[in-house]
Amino acid sequence: MDVEIRLLDPNEVLPIELLLLADPSEEIISNYISRGKCFIATKNNETVGVLVVIKTRPETIEIVNIAVKEDFQGKGIGKKLINFAIVYARGQGEKTIEIGTGNSSINQLLLYQKCGFRIVEVDHDFFIRHYKDEIYENGIQCRDMIRLRLVLW
Ligand code: COA
Repeated sequence: MDVEIRLLDPNEVLPIELLLLADPSEEIISNYISRGKCFIATKNNETVGVLVVIKTRPETIEIVNIAVKEDFQGKGIGKKLINFAIVYARGQGEKTIEIGTGNSSINQLLLYQKCGFRIVEVDHDFFIRHYKDEIYENGIQCRDMIRLRLVLW
């Protein structure tokens, strides 16, 4: 599906419901929103996807939030947002893009690896340490953060 992807203007309303699809903590979201760049995907003026990137280290950015509105999932918009992040990172002269997801986020792990990301690290019990409530997905508890990396050059 064709979408337009653009930077969210700082005085535009944050698509908080979308951001919460990818991350259940409003506190953590507002922390990285203040440090990063938030892009939105729109279709006929409706916001259908969101992507947030932050600069973490020299030549490295991290995708800290990516989400597509439920009715629009499975239509290639997630892949377009990842590919947009890759083009954006190249344009900024970055060398590496990182992304993390839960051990239970099976579809997300598929998507990131299809886009070329490789698993580089497992942060055991990350979600137990950082999130108040237990998270369950696909019938298992989300405990560990799987970190993936794409090297651009
Ligand atoms: N079932 C199976 N595979 C799926 C899937 C599903 N429900 N959703 C995505 N995938 C995988 C497929 O492998 C697909 O590849 P294919 O096109 O070769 O079949 C690939 O992901 C890309 O799918 P796409 O349509 O581009 O993804 P999307 O637009 O649905 O966006 C997410 C993917 C993860 C952003 C979206 O599902 C979402 O917003 N989920 C909730 C928020 C979230 O979990 N964010 C990530 C936090 S780490």
